Amino acid sequence: MDKTIEKIVSLCKRRGFIFQSSEIYGGFGAVYDYGPLGIELKNNISQLWWQEMTHVHENIVGLDSGILMHPRTWEASGHVSEFHDPLVDCKQCKARYRADELTTNTEDTDWGQVICPKCGTTGKMTSPRQFNLMFETHVGPVEGSSSVAYLRPETAQGIYVNYQLIQGAMRMKIPFGIAQIGKAFRNEIVARNFIFRTREFEQMEMQYFVRPGSDNNAMKEWKDKRFRFYPDSLGIDEDKLRFHEHGPDELAHYAKEAWDIEYEFPFGWAEVEGVHNRTDFDLVRHEEFSGKNLKYFDQQINERFLPFIIETSAGLNRTLLAVLVNAYWEDTENDRTVMRFHPRIAPVKAVVCPLVKKDGLPEKARNIVDLLKPRFKVLYDQQGSIGKRYYRQDEAGTPFGITVDHQTIEDDTVTLRYRDTQHQDRVSIDKLLMAIDDNMT
Ligand code: GAP
Repeated sequence: MDKTIEKIVSLCKRRGFIFQSSEIYGGFGAVYDYGPLGIELKNNISQLWWQEMTHVHENIVGLDSGILMHPRTWEASGHVSEFHDPLVDCKQCKARYRADELTTNTEDTDWGQVICPKCGTTGKMTSPRQFNLMFETHVGPVEGSSSVAYLRPETAQGIYVNYQLIQGAMRMKIPFGIAQIGKAFRNEIVARNFIFRTREFEQMEMQYFVRPGSDNNAMKEWKDKRFRFYPDSLGIDEDKLRFHEHGPDELAHYAKEAWDIEYEFPFGWAEVEGVHNRTDFDLVRHEEFSGKNLKYFDQQINERFLPFIIETSAGLNRTLLAVLVNAYWEDTENDRTVMRFHPRIAPVKAVVCPLVKKDGLPEKARNIVDLLKPRFKVLYDQQGSIGKRYYRQDEAGTPFGITVDHQTIEDDTVTLRYRDTQHQDRVSIDKLLMAIDDNMT
């Protein structure tokens, strides 16, 4: 694993951001649990996405559909027949690879000549075999082919099968969108790079329904809007972001055009979000498989048609990894590690510290916690030297430190410390909320 990622993994465990699943049993592959700071950070990111999609855009509404769906859904979507990765095994050391990790052209490769990157043996690699990434489960007490169901590999299908109900109930007129945040599951062959590729993850997806013919314009609009989300809402450095357009052999079975928004992780540039023109592929297939008419009636032009769909599909966990990497800063000059989260997404916004544990300072500090806590997540800390307390919070990414000292008792002012610069201002308690708010935008 990359050195920086290793340090972030260790910080995440130490500070309660992210833990390996089921650690007391030796861990469970490619599944992670989010601790107290991790869940705050994750919620802040997903809330910003939700706000941006469903509040800022009046023509986008939300949905929360089930993880389990009618199994025919996945036949219609193409996932049963198409959602495969080619898998190869080294017969010598039993290492398992996705074939396309070892060669760019899996079909024309002579697998008998491939060297195993792990043990270095040549001639022991199996030919690729297709492996479906969907997790199967069984519904009801009797196991058999008729009870098979799948854990959804994308949240998108829940939107497609509900689109007409939502359009009718909310009287949506084209163009309109439906947004959803939820878990998705993929039995990834090779899961690596911490929370970058896991078997259980969350997607933040929005499906935008447009008139056929206006899909290219809608694609442009959403590509740009989604790109801006990362620097403007999450505070990610713009020079660490870029687009990558899918070539013909990269396109998913449902897409006519696809762009990845990539972040420069320590292990290289990699996708955090995909923006796809899915055409009417999914709705055509659902009409065919369900036998239901899924056409939209466009009153303006007096026509019925299946809308084209532009999809924006972001991974919440990958976005969170980009946020963690982007925030990680070794401030060698001051011998501290700082998570420089934008205050808007920081898990804890402020720590309130009485300078000493006496003279009425703890009570005063508690009053300040009570003042701030209806607005955002704050902590009270009276343990250790003030310097140690601040450094603890720097590592947790807390942007503001508030210290109650003897002067506070006299004039109701406190010191407000800024995490990145360590600069301190004297602020009166009744202006504290405003001062923090000013630095939040
Ligand atoms: N509905 C379209 C779709 O699912 P995708 O490119 O397969 O498209 C979209 O996935 C996003 O979901 C990716 O950009 C990535 O952020 C996230 N994602 C996909 N597989 C993942 C995995 N195994 N672990 C974590 N995130 C994943």
